[in-house]
Amino acid sequence: MSAGIEIAEVSKVYDGGVRAVDSVAMEIKAGEFFSLLGPSGCGKTTTLRMIAGFDTPSSGEIRIDGADITHVPAHKRDMAMVFQNYALFPHRTVAENVGFGLRMRKLDKATIAAKVKAALAMVELSGMDDRRPAQLSGGQQQRVALARAIVIEPRVLLCDEPLGALDKKLRQQMQFELKQLQKNLGLTLVFVTHDQEEALAMSDRIAVMNAGRVEQVGTPVEIYDRPQTRFVADFIGDTNIFRGQRVTVDNNGTGIAAGNGLVLELPGPPAAADGAVLSVALRPEKIRLAPKVDTLHPKHASANGTVESTNFLGGAVLYRIALDSGHRVLAQQPNAGAGQLYAPGAPVMLGWTPADLVILKD
Ligand SMILES: Nc1ncnc2c1ncn2[C@@H]1O[C@H](COP(=O)(O)OP(=O)(O)OP(=O)(O)O)[C@@H](O)[C@H]1O
Ligand SMILES: [Mg+2]
Repeated sequence: MSAGIEIAEVSKVYDGGVRAVDSVAMEIKAGEFFSLLGPSGCGKTTTLRMIAGFDTPSSGEIRIDGADITHVPAHKRDMAMVFQNYALFPHRTVAENVGFGLRMRKLDKATIAAKVKAALAMVELSGMDDRRPAQLSGGQQQRVALARAIVIEPRVLLCDEPLGALDKKLRQQMQFELKQLQKNLGLTLVFVTHDQEEALAMSDRIAVMNAGRVEQVGTPVEIYDRPQTRFVADFIGDTNIFRGQRVTVDNNGTGIAAGNGLVLELPGPPAAADGAVLSVALRPEKIRLAPKVDTLHPKHASANGTVESTNFLGGAVLYRIALDSGHRVLAQQPNAGAGQLYAPGAPVMLGWTPADLVILKD
């Protein structure tokens, strides 16, 4: 049966004083696909290794289904880990690699053979039993590593950048298959990645980490559409960030004066007192572009600008635009069949909805 994990105020300080993980708290539910996402060095692997039992927290507690396992050795945790470099035994066959954990558990030969066969079928490697890792492609080696982990029917599966070495196409296919496998088996899966698209595509929930701390935990939609901090807004996808003083607009509305006359109207009731300094984020695809038709003073949810450069992405076009106020923004428009509508130098009008502005904690 899969299990839930609680990480309670866990810190890890390595010899030499590096605080790799700093007061991390999160709750991973049984059967959940949970990702740790963040830049290199933010503490993802260290967190995963503490869950696995390969590292001990300097302080805090790790619980599995409510039981404190902080000091339980790794082999008694009923967890399996898949490493970035697969860590297969090069001189053993596929079947021997997959059966490794079962032999350690001293199961009888017939049971091992049956379980190995079933695990290989699950990762679509039936018939490859007698090959050695060097005779497999990268994707196939990855599947062997996965089969070796799931064959012991762990309560929790831990994956550290398991798809990092694969090319994009294969990686997408494996993302899909791993997700299917996790759902079918009802596995609790903790997945480490620094690839935001991968985390958004696969996870039930994501913890975004920065410098040893958790910045935000949420569903992919929450993380993308409602980032709480500047770091999360910046790290996940492209975004435009405006910073300025809170002002009153049109008598009772709220806005941000971002400088040089650019005022952005905010949704809802005042988020802070007049004069308070706020940062807001606006995703490029929330901005609509139109040809500039007149020189009317822009509304609080629009602005005039000039296209500086364009980036054709296939399904969409990314425009880098200099606003008349001097601010530089990114706007992304779907490629609706006409390809690139505005060339560099084209005057454009930008429009958005105040509700698409997200106020950030600094
Ligand atoms: N054994 C160790 N001794 C000392 N410092 C360490 C040790 N292992 C990791 N660190 C440091 O702890 C911090 C977090 O490392 P960690 O490996 O957890 O990062 P990560 O998020 O997995 O990064 P990456 O995406 O590059 O794998 C880094 O500053 C790293 O240099
Ligand atoms: Mg790592």
